[in-house]
Amino acid sequence: MMELKEFQEQILNGIPKTLPAEKIYDETINHAPRRKPILSADEKKLALQNALRYFEATLHPFLAKEFLHELETYGRIYMHRFRPDYKIYARPILDYPHQSIQAAAIMHMLSNNLDYAIAQHPHELITYGGNGSVFQNWAQYLLTMQYLATMNDEQTLVLYSGHAMGLFPSHKDAPRVVITNGLMIPNYSKPDDWEKFNALGVTQYGQMTAGSFMYIGPQGIVHGTCITLMNAARKVANSVSSSSGRVGEGLLFVTCGLGGMSGAQPKAAKIAGLVSVTAEINPKAVHTRHSQGWVDEVFENLNLLIPRIKTAQENKEVVSLAYLGNVVDLWERLVFENIKVDIGSDQSSLHNPWAGGYYPVGLSLTESNQMMATDPNKFKEEVQKTLVRHINAVNKLHGKGMYFFDYGNAFLLEVGRAGGDVYATLPPVLSGHVGATFKYNSYVQDILGPICFDYGFGPFRWVCTSAKENDLRKTDEIALSVLEEMYKTAPSEIKQQLSDNIIWIRDAMKNNLVVGSQARILYADSEGRVKIAEAINKAIAAKEISAPVVLGRDHHDVSGTDSPYRETSNIYDGSKFTADMAVQNFVGDGFRGATWVSLHNGGGVGWGEVINGGFGLVLDGSIEAERKLKSMLFWDVNNGIARRSWARNKEANFAIKREMERTPNLKITLPNVVDEDLLTNLFKTKNSY
Ligand SMILES: NC(=O)c1ccc[n+]([C@@H]2O[C@H](COP(=O)([O-])OP(=O)(O)OC[C@H]3O[C@@H](n4cnc5c(N)ncnc54)[C@H](O)[C@@H]3O)[C@@H](O)[C@H]2O)c1
Repeated sequence: MMELKEFQEQILNGIPKTLPAEKIYDETINHAPRRKPILSADEKKLALQNALRYFEATLHPFLAKEFLHELETYGRIYMHRFRPDYKIYARPILDYPHQSIQAAAIMHMLSNNLDYAIAQHPHELITYGGNGSVFQNWAQYLLTMQYLATMNDEQTLVLYSGHAMGLFPSHKDAPRVVITNGLMIPNYSKPDDWEKFNALGVTQYGQMTAGSFMYIGPQGIVHGTCITLMNAARKVANSVSSSSGRVGEGLLFVTCGLGGMSGAQPKAAKIAGLVSVTAEINPKAVHTRHSQGWVDEVFENLNLLIPRIKTAQENKEVVSLAYLGNVVDLWERLVFENIKVDIGSDQSSLHNPWAGGYYPVGLSLTESNQMMATDPNKFKEEVQKTLVRHINAVNKLHGKGMYFFDYGNAFLLEVGRAGGDVYATLPPVLSGHVGATFKYNSYVQDILGPICFDYGFGPFRWVCTSAKENDLRKTDEIALSVLEEMYKTAPSEIKQQLSDNIIWIRDAMKNNLVVGSQARILYADSEGRVKIAEAINKAIAAKEISAPVVLGRDHHDVSGTDSPYRETSNIYDGSKFTADMAVQNFVGDGFRGATWVSLHNGGGVGWGEVINGGFGLVLDGSIEAERKLKSMLFWDVNNGIARRSWARNKEANFAIKREMERTPNLKITLPNVVDEDLLTNLFKTKNSY
């Protein structure tokens, strides 16, 4: 009881006026790598001026020295001393001091992003992806919590890359928080610009669900990865055993990465019935996934791993193996041993290749971490040499029948930039983005785009702010009955998607997926999202669910993200290099009732490579919540379907026409598709002039 009171007092106090005790650098915690030094002496001074703005002048002489030390040691000023002593996690909503229940829900969500069980580098306020930040420093966290705890429903909190600009008068239907992360003038949005402006303390890489307070732990990605691997296996195996959902028995899947997102691969591969081998160079990451039970067996020695793979293939085992080492050593050995790999991919963090996202072969983890800070040019050279070897091995196995796909981590992009043999045609203008044609497709081009996004299916999610498992169970039951009802009358084009989701939600509790907040993810289309949300809202009103439920989604969705090498890689009309959809989505969600909205530069494939946005919507059982959810969720999905349809994607064209039939106020401009022969002939004639 006392502990809760102290916690509440500390939240209300915001940034302390006196110095808290120094924090010991805890080696047992997974820390962000030291960032490369990038600031000149004058710029360091500016970084200190910026950081000290949060504190009273009396503290400046002391803190200036300490922050300079942090800047020089870690490459960033995290303000470690101000990290609170209380445990940060998604507490029951009423534990947060508040004037607005919506703001309390937001505190619940952002606390989850910083929970030690969830966050990749909790002391550096990084949730996932190596640099996906919730805030840039602890002062920003403290200030934001204080504003959230004291704001009312006629105010909006404005967050610029983690910095709380303040509370502005607004109105009940306005978002309580508007978030922007990493938004740069386009000409200043290259990777080194990020390093510099982040070190100055004026911008941050919010990734997708990190800086937007919508991360729900590894479950979020397990579902998407399951859908991807099940459909990849269907492509390869042409055999479906829909009763178990296990489609790929005996097929071998090889990949890289057991980190924040990538760690879902072995778990999903098991659900899809595959033999999987995942290489991971970081022993901490291997240990986490092994101790969680997501990886069955760990091998440090390829001489032992190879015979184990052969036995697993022969016996059609459903088993997940990990190789603690560099993925390129694994690929080259698989080539040498002539092992038949059926499906291949990679989820190292190549959106962040020069700062710990991808480790060069021949160097230990420690050697690499040292080199990237002390000799960044040499490190870049080593990464690029490794990428060339990496793709050469992949190409050889592809030549023997392996299906390989890019897993949304900028793998093909960076291999291409490194000079690797990855283009299907002549290399495009590398920096000019004329649209590279790679030998391999991305998982969005082959799988998620045509099967999910174009029909409106995407990673819808909800979080029970009571923090009670029983509430989550109730929401699962609601979602299952909605999907079963929809399945009865669904057109054949989306029956498979619905039945995969029915299996997922039916088994969700059994699969024990919750880490952190009581959250559930479910790929649903517009109709499913609205119906599930409506039913949950009614259950809250009827007190069958004990506290508000937050709705949201990953940014990796139908409409929220413009990303030419990932979410919009299956857009072929040239518009994949524009960001209108994501920006329109953010604005449209904002005025249709979202409780908070966010817009980010960077996320997934890297800084400058993507614009993405998200939302949170609090259901409290009220009529207003019902009005908002109907309007906002409808727009949040159909905006993207309309755009995908205009890009001539036939699945989206089907989906938007179906939606117009049942929604009289929806009027979408449809494309007229030109006969290819007409153009071919036209150009033949033209060339003969
Ligand atoms: N497809 C999707 O839906 C999707 C979703 C989220 C993230 N991603 C992308 O996937 C990537 C991985 O995300 P994450 O959150 O897991 O990042 P992460 O940094 O937590 O994990 C990547 C892991 O790869 C390991 N690694 C790097 N180079 C290696 C090498 N050469 N050999 C062996 N291991 C190596 C790292 O040690 C790290 O643990 C990111 O680029 C992310 O943007 C894709």
